[in-house]
Amino acid sequence: MENNVFEGFYKKTINERLQILKLFSNLQESEIDLLKVNGPLSIESADKMIENVFAVHCLPVGLAVNFLIDGKQKVIPYVVEEPSVVAAASNAAKLCYFSGGFQTGADKSIMIGQIQFLEIKDIKKAQKQIEDKKEELIQLSKTEELPMVKYGGGLIEIQTRVIESSYGPMLIVHLLVDCVDSMGANTINTYLEFFAPKINEMIGGRAAIKILSNLSIYRTAWAKAIWTQKALEESTKGAIKGDKVLDLILEAYEFARVDPFRAVTHNKGIMNGISSIALATGNDWRAIEASAHAYASLNNSTYQPLTKYYKDKDGNLVGEIKVPLAVGIVGGSTTINPTNKICLKILDVKTAQELSRIMAAAGLAQNFAAIRALATEGIQRGHMKLHARNFAAAAGADSNLIDRVSRMMIEQNKISLDNAKKILEELKSKNN
Ligand code: HMG
Repeated sequence: MENNVFEGFYKKTINERLQILKLFSNLQESEIDLLKVNGPLSIESADKMIENVFAVHCLPVGLAVNFLIDGKQKVIPYVVEEPSVVAAASNAAKLCYFSGGFQTGADKSIMIGQIQFLEIKDIKKAQKQIEDKKEELIQLSKTEELPMVKYGGGLIEIQTRVIESSYGPMLIVHLLVDCVDSMGANTINTYLEFFAPKINEMIGGRAAIKILSNLSIYRTAWAKAIWTQKALEESTKGAIKGDKVLDLILEAYEFARVDPFRAVTHNKGIMNGISSIALATGNDWRAIEASAHAYASLNNSTYQPLTKYYKDKDGNLVGEIKVPLAVGIVGGSTTINPTNKICLKILDVKTAQELSRIMAAAGLAQNFAAIRALATEGIQRGHMKLHARNFAAAAGADSNLIDRVSRMMIEQNKISLDNAKKILEELKSKNN
C-alpha cells in the first residue's frame, strides 16, 4: 500500500499542495506556473471559498446584449464554455426588442426547509398539535437572532405532509422562510435546527434529517415576449415567410410538449442562459438546475418544457417561461469573487427578484433562439459557424490566424478539427 500523500492536504500551503500534486500527477513546472496565474479572483481569496485549493479555474465571460426587460435596456454577463450561446441570446433579444422585449415577474424569495420526523406514535395528532401551535411558533421566530428577520424576511408558514415509506409513515414538516435577497441555504438550515427540537418536544418521535429543499416552487420567476411575423421573417433573412416560421416554431414546441426525450434538450437550452448567469453572479447553479428539472415534471405525468409558445390574436408568436429560481445577490461567493460583484453591478439589480426576472428572460431568449434555428435553418449553421473559432484555436492557430482559418472552414462548409489543421498547415507552408 502506497503512502497517502494527501493526508492533511487541507493544512498545507497552496505551494505545498501544488508540489504534492505535481509529483502525484506528474505535472510539468510550466503547468504549475500556469496554475499559479492570478485572475481577478486571487488564489488566496479562492482558498477561503472552498477546501484544498490549488488553482483558480477560468471561463470566458460574455455579454448578451439587446435585452429590453420591463422597459429597461439590459446587458447580461454569461459565464459559459459553449460557443453560440451568447450570440443566440443576443439574437433572440434583438428580434423581440421592438415588440416590447421581455415582461417579467417573480415571487418573493420563499424557500422550503424540511424536517423528517420518524417514530411518531400518532401522526394525525402530531399534525394537529403543529397546526394549533403554528402561529405561536411563527411569533417565536420573530427574533433578530434568526437570519433575515431584520431585513423583513423570516418564517412565514409551517406545513405538514405525511409520506408513506418502507420505514412506515413519515411526518415531514415544511418551514417556509422568506430569504429576501440571499439564496437562503444557510438561512433555512439555521431555522430548521432552531425549530426541530421545539417541534420534537411538542410531538415526540425523532427529528431526523433537517435540510432545505432545492425544489423551490414558491420562488419562481416568469417572463413573456412577443416575436412578430416580420421579425421572424427577418431572422431568416427573408428566406422563409414569417407565418411559416411561426408555424415551424409551434411544431418544434409541440414536439417538446409531447416527448420527454425532446423536452430535456429543450430545457437544457433554457438552462444555457440561466446557468451561465448563475455562474456569472456566484449563484449555486447545481441547485438551480436540479430545481428546474424537477419543476418540469411536477404537475404532469411526463417531463414538460419550461416554456410555452402560442400564436396571439394579431398573429404574433408569444413565448412564456416560468421557472423556479433560488438566487441571491448577497452572501456566498458574491462577497468574495470580484468578477461576481462586477457582473451584479453590470446587471444593475437591487434585489434577488430582479436578478431572477432577468434570468427568466434570458432562459426564454435562449430557448426561442434554439428552436427558431432548429425549426428553420438547423442548429449547425449558426452554432458550427461559431464553433469554427474553437477548432481553429485547438488546431494551434494563433490570434492572427484564428479568424482566417475559421472563415475558410465556413466557406468550404467543412467545420472540423481535421480541416482546421489541414488549412493551418497549408497557410503555414504558403508563408514559408
Ligand atoms: P444570424 O441570423 O446569422 O445572425 O444568427 P446575424 O448575423 O443576423 O446577427 C443577429 C444578431 O445575433 C446580432 O445582432 C448579434 O446580436 C447576434 P447585431 O449585433 O448584428 O445587430 N450575433 C452575434 N453575437 C455575437 N457574436 C456573433 C454573433 N452573430 C450574431 N458571432 C446565430 C446567428 C448564431 C445568432 C443564430 O444562428 C442562432 O441564434 N442560433 C442558435 C444557436 C444556439 O441556440 N446555440 C446554443 C447552443 S446549442 C444547444 O446547446 C441547445 C439546443 O440543443 C437546445 C434545443 O435543442 O432546444 C439547441
